[in-house]
Amino acid sequence: MSVDATYQADADRVPWWQEAVFYQIYPRSFADSDGDGVGDLAGARVRLADLAWLGVDALWISPFFRSPMADFGYDVSDYCDVDPLFGDLAEFDSLVADAHALGMRVVIDWVPNHTSDQHPWFLDASSSRDSPHRNWYVWRYPEPDGSPPNNWVAAFDLSAPAWTFHEPTGQWYLHLFESAQPDLNWDEPQVVEAMHDTLRFWLDRGVDGFRADAIHCIGKDPRLPDDPPEVAGIPHCALNDVPVTHERLRAIRTLVDTYPGQQVVVGEVFLLSTEEVATYYGDGDELHLAFNFPPLFAPWLADHWRGCIEDTCAALEPRGAWPTWVLSNHDNPRHRTRYDRAAARAGEDPVTAARRSEARARAAAVLLLSLRGTPFVYQGDELGLADADVPEGRRVDPGGRDGCRAPIPWDATPDHGWPTGAGVRTWLPMAPEAEERNRGAEAAEPGSVLHLYRRAIALRHATPALSRGSFEWVDLPDGVLGYRRTHAGDTVVVLVNFTGTAVAIDLAKLQGAEVLLASDDPVPRGRFAGRLGPDQALIIRT
Ligand code: NOJ
Repeated sequence: MSVDATYQADADRVPWWQEAVFYQIYPRSFADSDGDGVGDLAGARVRLADLAWLGVDALWISPFFRSPMADFGYDVSDYCDVDPLFGDLAEFDSLVADAHALGMRVVIDWVPNHTSDQHPWFLDASSSRDSPHRNWYVWRYPEPDGSPPNNWVAAFDLSAPAWTFHEPTGQWYLHLFESAQPDLNWDEPQVVEAMHDTLRFWLDRGVDGFRADAIHCIGKDPRLPDDPPEVAGIPHCALNDVPVTHERLRAIRTLVDTYPGQQVVVGEVFLLSTEEVATYYGDGDELHLAFNFPPLFAPWLADHWRGCIEDTCAALEPRGAWPTWVLSNHDNPRHRTRYDRAAARAGEDPVTAARRSEARARAAAVLLLSLRGTPFVYQGDELGLADADVPEGRRVDPGGRDGCRAPIPWDATPDHGWPTGAGVRTWLPMAPEAEERNRGAEAAEPGSVLHLYRRAIALRHATPALSRGSFEWVDLPDGVLGYRRTHAGDTVVVLVNFTGTAVAIDLAKLQGAEVLLASDDPVPRGRFAGRLGPDQALIIRT
C-alpha cells in the first residue's frame, strides 16, 4: 500500500509517527552503489526492499547535503542540494518515491544550529565586519586580555573553547561544535527566514519530516553568560536551555503543520534531564517528538531501566507528550558493545561475555519495541552488530565515534556487499563478525537477531496494545521488569530478565498464557510455564 493510501485508511487514528517504527540510515555506512567505499543514496535505494521486509515504517536519513565533511555531513555548505558523494537531487527524489511506494516514510536530518565554515553565508560573513551576512553568525570582540567572550566549552574537544578567533576581522565566532561549524545567529530575522526556506524546500519535495539536529541550541542567552563552575567540563550544547528557543520552535511547528501530510519534527534535545527535554514538546505546539537519551546510555540493569522509564513517564505524561526510545545511534557506542564492555569489566570470560551480551541485546530489542512510545532502530542493530575496533591509523571522527559507524555487512562475500575497486577500501573498517553477522546470512537463519527484530516489529504492528496501549508496571522479583500494555480490552504483558540466571515468575494470571514472542527463540514456546530464562524477554497475552 502506498503511503498516501495509508493516510486515508488511518485518517481517524493517532498520528502515524506515534505508531511507526523508525529506522536510522547513516548514509556513509549503509550501502554503496559506486564502489568508492562510502555509502550513497543509490546504494540505500537498492536496500529499501530489505527495510520494508524488516517492517519499519519510517526512515530517518542522516545528512546527505553538500558538505566539506568536517563532521561527516553535520557541517552543511548547501542545505538544498545533495553532496555529489551521495548522489544528486534526482536520486533523492527516486529514493523518496520508492520508499513511499513500499509504504515507508522518509524523514531527513535538518541541521539548524550551525553551518559549515565553507557555507557561502559564512564565507561572506567572515569576509569583513561589514559584510551583509556578518550578523548571521555570532561574533564578539575579545576580552581586554584577548580571551574569548565567555567560558563555554565546545563539544568533542572539551579542552577547547566554543569560540575561534578570526584573525582577519579581529573577532571571535561562536561554535558549540567544531570550529568548522559556526553557530547561526537565530536572533537575526534573515537567518530565521532562510532556514524556514530550507524546510519548505524539502517539504515541497515530499519529505515526511525532519530530525532536527541540536535543536535546543537555536536560541542563546543574549548576554552570553559564563557557564557556572559546577558544570565545568560539560560542553555548552548540553546546557543551553533558554526560553526564546521555544518561540522559534513554535514558528517551525506552525510552518511544518501547514503542510498536509502530517509531517513530523523529531528533535535532538541533548540536555541533561528528561524534564528539561519534555519542555520542548511545548503544549503540543513545539516538537512532535524529542529523543530521550538516558536509555542510550543505560547499563543492562533492571533498576536503572525502571528509573529511565519512570522518569520518562513522569516528565511526558502530564503534557500529553509522546515518548521515544532509542538504544543506539551514530554518536555513541552500540548497546551490544556497551553490554560487551560491562561484561568484560565484570571479569566474565570472553565466550560467556559474548553470549550474554547477545542475549542482552536481544532482550533489549524486545524492550525497545514493546515500550509505550516511538522506537528508533539504528542501522545494524537489527543484525546484533557491535562497534568496530577502529585502529588508530583509520580513525577519522573528531568526536571518536567511528566504531558505531562501521559499514553494514550485506552478505558473506569478501567485500560484504561493498563493491570497492582495486586500491579502494571502505571509509571505515567493516563491522565486526561480518562473516556471520550480515544481512544475507541472518535473513536465512530464523533464529537470528534480524528475524527477532522482524517478528517484534510485526507483533507491534498487529497488536494495538503494544503500539498505543496504556502502560502499567507488574510487581516482580529484583532484577526483572514487567509491564502490562492494554488497549481496547486486549492486554499483553512484557517480562524482561536483566539477570544471568533463570527466575521463577509466580503470577497466577500468567500461568498457561500464550507466549507471543521470546527474545531467544524463533518459535515461541506455546504457553508460559512460570519461568524466565537468563537475560530473556517474553511478550505474553493474558
Ligand atoms: C548531533 C549529531 O547527531 C552529531 O553527529 C553531530 O556531530 C552534532 N549534532 C553536531 O551537528
